[in-house]
Amino acid sequence: MSYELIQVRTEGGKVGVVTLNRPKQLNALNNELMDELGAALKAFDADPTIGCMVITGSEKAFAAGADIGAMATYSFSDVYKGDYITRNWELIRQVRKPVIAAVSGFALGGGCELAMMCDFIIAADNARFGQPEIKLGIIPGAGGTQRLPRAVGKAKAMDLALTGRMMDATEAERAGLVSRVVALDKLMDETLAAALMICEFSQVAVMAAKESVNRAFEGGLADGIMFERRMFHALFATEDQKEGMDAFVNKRKAVFKNQ
Ligand code: CAA
Repeated sequence: MSYELIQVRTEGGKVGVVTLNRPKQLNALNNELMDELGAALKAFDADPTIGCMVITGSEKAFAAGADIGAMATYSFSDVYKGDYITRNWELIRQVRKPVIAAVSGFALGGGCELAMMCDFIIAADNARFGQPEIKLGIIPGAGGTQRLPRAVGKAKAMDLALTGRMMDATEAERAGLVSRVVALDKLMDETLAAALMICEFSQVAVMAAKESVNRAFEGGLADGIMFERRMFHALFATEDQKEGMDAFVNKRKAVFKNQ
């Protein structure tokens, strides 16, 4: 499939990389781009050779938000009947393999929300995060009011959502929004190294880990622990568990078959 607003490639034959590509609009996210992103991620998810995905943007912007020009004339019935956001943005939530956001520059509004929909965020030192929707007379509409407080706590989430201010990469790491901050020129190297490391592990265990951590994030503690325990027990039915533990006991490198 050919894409116009994203670029798609693989790295090491194992990592699917999607680069958002509307540079003049700072990668503002319109419907066409989100349709393409959803299609690309679903295709990578279905490809057995791919073990992990990366979404990235340009040096100046991961994404500066939903496309304000496109939204400006939407009416309530347009967005409600068209199922705006839910229809295509949330396809990423159906992706079962890990997705890493490699963020440099602005990640604002829907751009910050897209990064938060990924499984974790690696930020360049020039990254800036924020939910400035309040300045437009709206609120975050792609999960920001829910995912941001879970990531950084109520105080900082309220501060960002109510003042619309940006936070830099250092503050974002300190607050727990991003997993690591790296020099801008090392962003893709570090992210791809993490992605390739994930690809080394059992795909079954990786998917189970992702699903289980998401339970902690999206549900209550007791349900999350129960879900984790069931997934943990279930992994003892895989060949990869036998291989991984046998390799450790016998001091050799594990060779996983994703079975
Ligand atoms: N939508 C559409 N176009 C955008 C855009 C957006 N979110 N963000 C930037 N652009 C466009 C600008 O209009 C400009 O286009 P022109 O050259 O044609 O004028 C181009 O990108 C470059 O932007 P600036 O000239 O503004 O660049 P800057 O470096 O001076 O400022 C910025 C950068 C601070 C990110 C500024 O562009 C900005 O504030 N953008 C809007 C950020 C925002 O409000 N995002 C939230 C959107 S709402 C949302 O996302 C809803 C949701 O939750 C789903």
